[in-house]
Amino acid sequence: MALLALMLVVAACSNSGEKSDGDKKDKGGQASGQVEIFSWWTGAGEEDGLLALIDLFEDEHPDISVENAAVAGGAGTNAKAVLATRMQGNDPPSTFQVHGGEELNKSWVAADKMEPLNDLYEENDWMDKFPEDLIDLVSDDGNIYSVPVNIHRGNPIFYNKKVFEDNGIDVPTTMDEFFAAADKLQEAGITPLALGDKESWTATQIFENVLAAELGVDDYNKLFAGDIAFDDERVVKAAETFGKMLDYINEDHASRNWQDSAQLVASGDAAMINMGDWAVGYFVNDLDLETNVDYGYFTFPGTEGDFGVITDTFGLPKGVDNVDDVKKFLTVLGSVEGQDAFNPLKGSIPARVDADPSKYNDYGKDTIEDFKESRLYPSLAHGSAASEGFLTKANQAVNIFVTQRNVDNFIQALQNAAPDM
Ligand code: GAL
Repeated sequence: MALLALMLVVAACSNSGEKSDGDKKDKGGQASGQVEIFSWWTGAGEEDGLLALIDLFEDEHPDISVENAAVAGGAGTNAKAVLATRMQGNDPPSTFQVHGGEELNKSWVAADKMEPLNDLYEENDWMDKFPEDLIDLVSDDGNIYSVPVNIHRGNPIFYNKKVFEDNGIDVPTTMDEFFAAADKLQEAGITPLALGDKESWTATQIFENVLAAELGVDDYNKLFAGDIAFDDERVVKAAETFGKMLDYINEDHASRNWQDSAQLVASGDAAMINMGDWAVGYFVNDLDLETNVDYGYFTFPGTEGDFGVITDTFGLPKGVDNVDDVKKFLTVLGSVEGQDAFNPLKGSIPARVDADPSKYNDYGKDTIEDFKESRLYPSLAHGSAASEGFLTKANQAVNIFVTQRNVDNFIQALQNAAPDM
């Protein structure tokens, strides 16, 4: 990450902001009449919403062609590296997926790579259409740097309804109840908790939710602000609880990605999974499951009333030549129609407060209501709580912990990484 930061600074210094026509042709996606959209939404459970948004944009702007430059890998595992290389080479995509919070601010705004979008917000009368907290997450020093397309929730646990019914399991509301249910399921030969940590963010996401449960929202935020140390006894307790949860996962977790692990719940081989609600898009659109019939959901025990928030946003990189076209795309993405085309398929809820809840399934409707009443905690695994530098190290520490299960080493690794936050 130090290297990445250095390369970003060098790239920022050498960026004249001008491109020759040759550059335009070679690099593509930048010339007027084209918009290149960079994301990690490919394939199962990920791409449906994006394609619906692109369709809407193409209907409204038939003169602008869209290049869908998506790079596979959940949570941006591969896309972020490709993006970093392009940004360093002064070859930014027209617009790219970036999480609100530190991923946007510490990686790209701090390197002076993004254009402020305050004028776009004013023109579209958006200031009171997005929740203030969300605008804060995409702002720095009074400037707004991206447009949120959605709000995902990171602290649901999805479960197979039939498996719960057949085994006489009630929805757990505390960690003790969760472990009692897990024991019962394990005795019945069912994997209690599905995990696919081929990409380690899935395990990091479980850990962040245990942290929120142990610390509560205020202290969770203090932890990531550096005001509470990682050797705080509640963080140690969270690590122990996280470790205990790992007693209940599928053996082949390290060879599965998030879709493969969610599939275990869909098929009934596993009972539960803690996954962001992109799993809803996957269950409903790809696997044809019915909400509250085939799969149900409950809040990660200990985080009731709290909302682990993840927001996918898109901004305007400095140095692109097709500024007007990008702004047209961002305008569609930030519109009620855009959000209501994208989110019902993606499993997320609209970032706008005035979208149409009737377009969403029961999970979406519940989540829209919960969002209004909940306290928000930004996701670590999805880039909002801490810098990419810290996240990379936290993912490594989690990955080692999943196999070694040494709490002291885990806490030490997090402490060592803390200065990078
Ligand atoms: C998150 C992203 C979601 C979803 C998920 C799995 O980081 O915010 O929209 O794509 O990764 O890939």
